Amino acid sequence: MGAKVWIDGGVIDAAAARVPVFDRGFLYGDSVYEVLRTFGGRPCFLDEHLERLAGSAARLQMALPERAAIVRATLDAIGAVGVECYVRIVVTRGSGPIGLDPSLADEPRLVVLAQPLVLPDEALYRDGVALAIVGARRNAPGTLDPQVKSGNYLNSVLAISEARRKGAYEALMCDTVGRLAEGSSSNLFAVRAGRLATPPLSVGLLEGITRRHVMAAARRIGVSADEVQLWPLDLVHADEVFITSSVRGVMPVVRVVLDRPEGETIGDGHPGPITRRVADAYLDAARVG
Ligand SMILES: Cc1ncc(COP(=O)(O)O)c(C=O)c1O
Repeated sequence: MGAKVWIDGGVIDAAAARVPVFDRGFLYGDSVYEVLRTFGGRPCFLDEHLERLAGSAARLQMALPERAAIVRATLDAIGAVGVECYVRIVVTRGSGPIGLDPSLADEPRLVVLAQPLVLPDEALYRDGVALAIVGARRNAPGTLDPQVKSGNYLNSVLAISEARRKGAYEALMCDTVGRLAEGSSSNLFAVRAGRLATPPLSVGLLEGITRRHVMAAARRIGVSADEVQLWPLDLVHADEVFITSSVRGVMPVVRVVLDRPEGETIGDGHPGPITRRVADAYLDAARVG
């Protein structure tokens, strides 16, 4: 069974779904979104994703459809796919005459895309991945706040394309003073002396829902988790590194590309024991989330 889309009041095949060219999401990236996955057919951490969606919209002074309508559309789209799903909930400010002024928009447009879940290859979890620290900087919080998950992801697009050119799986962006912020679509963790360290929100990054649950899961199994400013060289000296996101979960990192094209090995070059334990504890929470 293929991808389905809830749009204009019902669920249809994704290939048939259309958004008007005057939609501001298309014209200006004037939209907010969330990505999540299902576990056992249930959307994982849906409440928290909807809360973050509301936060993103509020920061852009954008109205959202009723929460209950978003939940219904999400469940309908997932139900129509009928297998474990990747789910993308998008709300645009709506359509209107061309012009930046948001008051030109008619009403918010909700689109929910659900498609069969394809997880990263098992080998990536087993062997770990490479990160590249890229030149593209994460937006400063005083510009388009990284806490807003908006339809404008060009920063991340530039970052991931640079990382792929360098042969890495994911890009790591720094803030304008060179502190590590986050990946193009993931949050960053280092393990040092048995403790987790992740950059603080004040550096300018999206507060990942996986990040939050990973910190809680770590503490449950007796591993401290702190928000700490990290610099690129801190990764080279870390015992273990991993990244997190809703679809990937916890992905181990074994190499980081800084200046030398071959990169620097992290720890012994294999996913570490704390990463594994935290990943398992996170999965236990996500399965019931
Ligand atoms: C920029 C960015 N940071 C972090 C994340 C991870 O967030 P979450 O764990 O809520 O999926 C994402 C998710 O796509 C992202 O786009």
